[in-house]
Amino acid sequence: MTHDKQVALVTGGNRGIGYELVKQLSLKGFKVILASRDREMGNKAVQKLKELDLDVSCVEMDVANYESISQAAVSINDMGGPSAPRTPRQAAESILWLATIGPDGPNGGFFRDGKQIPW
Ligand SMILES: NC(=O)c1ccc[n+]([C@@H]2O[C@H](COP(=O)([O-])OP(=O)(O)OC[C@H]3O[C@@H](n4cnc5c(N)ncnc54)[C@H](OP(=O)(O)O)[C@@H]3O)[C@@H](O)[C@H]2O)c1
Repeated sequence: MTHDKQVALVTGGNRGIGYELVKQLSLKGFKVILASRDREMGNKAVQKLKELDLDVSCVEMDVANYESISQAAVSINDMGGPSAPRTPRQAAESILWLATIGPDGPNGGFFRDGKQIPW
């Protein structure tokens, strides 16, 4: 599945800062996936945002549980697959770069291919 909108995944999105982030990103035109470790709380939060006419969907994810993260990744299938804009190898390179950037590397911004990009 392809989409024109930028997609954001927000963990802990059912309340607090996460919820507000979901709302603000959605208001800025992002398609937002609200991740919540409790499905019912996630659905309730999504329902509130849909009442504001926002484009938000829900996925269950406990970031302390690898199995839960894997299941969420499988269910968010419109970020990858055959129509993904990058190969898994290209995508992994960016993640590897960010994970190994070190304390003297750039921070406080958004990066693509090792260069800062506007958001
Ligand atoms: N609020 C502030 O002024 C402030 C300032 C600086 C830093 N922070 C930090 O920013 C973070 C969020 O703050 P907050 O005020 O939004 O906190 P919050 O209202 O307590 O919300 C925390 C969120 O994280 C979720 N969460 C906790 N453990 C999780 C897990 N294992 N997997 C997935 N989601 C999990 C919670 O889900 P459940 O609803 O299921 O518990 C909830 O959605 C905290 O680490 C806090 O220390 C907050």
